[in-house]
Amino acid sequence: MTTEIQRGAHHGMKAIVTGANSGIGLATAQRLLNEGAKVLMVDLAEEASIKHPAASYLQADVAGEEAHEHIAASAKDHLGGIDFLINNAGMVGGGPVESMTFADWGRILDVNLSAVFRLCQASIPSLKQSTRGRIVNIGSIMTTLAGVGMGAYTTSKHAVAGLTKTLALELGEFGITANFIQPGAIITGITQASLDAGPEFERFWSEKSALGRLGRPEDIAAAINFLVSEDASFITGHGLVVDGGVMRKA
Ligand SMILES: NC(=O)c1ccc[n+]([C@@H]2O[C@H](COP(=O)([O-])OP(=O)(O)OC[C@H]3O[C@@H](n4cnc5c(N)ncnc54)[C@H](O)[C@@H]3O)[C@@H](O)[C@H]2O)c1
Repeated sequence: MTTEIQRGAHHGMKAIVTGANSGIGLATAQRLLNEGAKVLMVDLAEEASIKHPAASYLQADVAGEEAHEHIAASAKDHLGGIDFLINNAGMVGGGPVESMTFADWGRILDVNLSAVFRLCQASIPSLKQSTRGRIVNIGSIMTTLAGVGMGAYTTSKHAVAGLTKTLALELGEFGITANFIQPGAIITGITQASLDAGPEFERFWSEKSALGRLGRPEDIAAAINFLVSEDASFITGHGLVVDGGVMRKA
């Protein structure tokens, strides 16, 4: 990774990326930095997993009581505003509905949905000042499908679509677009335990994919990079499936 501030397609743009220390968020932060944006990376860990002169880091639980205010204020302080908001932080878990604890249900909905709502809301005043305001929320193929034992996750990711479509309608008059990505199975921290458990997970998703492989974080970062670009200025309220063709297989 380069350590120089680049003059790329996003030169002068200011981005928040949540869950930026690993997987899709990390690849997205790197991609936006490489394209010349300044990036506020937000994650749970004490320290950023990468250093870059145009990157700032904020340790925060996105579902914390005042996290949305801290993140939006930090973006103003460190970056000078917000052009791109990438709500990527997310978690899985909970198990089957019959046995899921209400605490697990609540935590997953808080992180995957309510935190997205609150950070979108807190960022809207700054996004309205932007010449290229963009919201990209991370859904999943579980925004469309469902998975046994994934009730809370599936519910949260379905709801992210509803929230994002609404934001698109409400913010269009300010030139702000709001879209969501639907990643398929991607090799990241979230899938690592399943990959480590044996070859079945990789085989299942590779066979379901038209391209015969799982996704890489960079595959999703590339799609996010497109949605925040000038070229995507007439795309809003859209869910972009980036799954290697998984959802096309009966
Ligand atoms: N990997 C996949 O197959 C896949 C598929 C569909 C959707 N997604 C979505 O992609 C997003 C990114 O996940 P990933 O796959 O890169 O996983 P990952 O575990 O590699 O990265 C997630 C990052 O989010 C951070 N995070 C989690 N909870 C947080 C919180 N409360 N506050 C702040 N940071 C928090 C983690 O510390 C981690 O750095 C998630 O929303 C996930 O649901 C992933």
